[in-house]
Amino acid sequence: MLPVDLFDPRHYANVRKPALQGAETLPAWCYTSQAFYDREVERIFKKVWNFVDRVDRIPNPGDYFVFDYVGVSTIIVRGKDGKVRGFANTCRHRGSVVMEGEGTCKQMQCPYHAWTYDLDGALIGAPFMEETADFDPARYHLAPVRLEVYGGFIFLCFDADAPDLKAYLGDFIDNTRGYNPDDLVVVRRQEWIMECNWKLFYENFAEQYHIPFIHKTSLNRQKRKITPPEPCNGNYVALYTQHPGSRMLLAGDTGFPAIEGLKGRDAEGTYYPSLHPSTMMGWCIDGMWWVRSDPLGPERTRITAGSCFPRKTRARDDFAEVAQRYYKRLDLTIPEDIKASEDQQRGLRSPYYKPGPLSYLERLVNTIDNWVLDRVLDPPAEAQKQAAE
Ligand code: FES
Ligand SMILES: [Fe+2]
Repeated sequence: MLPVDLFDPRHYANVRKPALQGAETLPAWCYTSQAFYDREVERIFKKVWNFVDRVDRIPNPGDYFVFDYVGVSTIIVRGKDGKVRGFANTCRHRGSVVMEGEGTCKQMQCPYHAWTYDLDGALIGAPFMEETADFDPARYHLAPVRLEVYGGFIFLCFDADAPDLKAYLGDFIDNTRGYNPDDLVVVRRQEWIMECNWKLFYENFAEQYHIPFIHKTSLNRQKRKITPPEPCNGNYVALYTQHPGSRMLLAGDTGFPAIEGLKGRDAEGTYYPSLHPSTMMGWCIDGMWWVRSDPLGPERTRITAGSCFPRKTRARDDFAEVAQRYYKRLDLTIPEDIKASEDQQRGLRSPYYKPGPLSYLERLVNTIDNWVLDRVLDPPAEAQKQAAE
């Protein structure tokens, strides 16, 4: 049952407890209710830095793609100056979307009445407007959307007042610099739609508890040493596993050489950061992949995945053939996690569902849930009073 005081902190007292000292999972409505979902969209997805894609998706001036995300359509376009920019995909005339899909353009032209925008968003053409008094094209620039890039990864933020990307990501930047992320290129993208809440897949990625069961015949053949979550100073959580070889491959498969210059811990295992709100990454010795859980509604989610390798690896003659072994792993394991998340969603709908306890292998589920609650719930009255003073 959905309580009327849905956002009263008392409903979440057990989620707020320390991970192994009585902490429980979130109430069912956090995964099923429209009201909780709407709060997440307004207070999380429209407030923070959201990972979008890689800059190498649009390598040349005029290359663009449209990114539809939490009800906001954004054009990501590379300008004549080589800079990647984001613009709200809504015409300054009567609001039509201006661009669709992806491709290359010289200018951006609205399909409705052919208002035309330069690649920097300036209105450069508006037919039949000469009789409109005081019509000044300079006032009708496409609305810019905040966009920043780290290591070739594009991020958007719909909040003008949010701190910059560097502040948001914190030491995630230092922890991935050794992989030379600017040199990576995306070699394959995939998409799935799943019938469950976005958090279920996101929580799943941050816990190792399910691996022997959900990935019984795929990942469980890989030896793993269980280590506690990594310390993180930024809006993310992370796990690290030390092991020989690449975790972009299934056990027994061989692949590409390691990323040049990779040193120390980076060269001895895999780093799994989960960037809030919902981007999961695997940084391996020979490449990296991301999976993002995009909310489409309380019980509907789009999963997008990308596989990345260094430019030199992609240029190899045997690339297409060897890459198949890498794709095999993602193609096997992501559907396993999707099924687990959808099964969990079906169970959560039961009137008999009650929040449950967590194992030491699921500490980050509690960290994620608290990160969400910190943003979705109102701050305590005392904190509000202090902030107002
Ligand atoms: S709505 Fe775009 S030109 Fe009219
Ligand atoms: Fe999994």
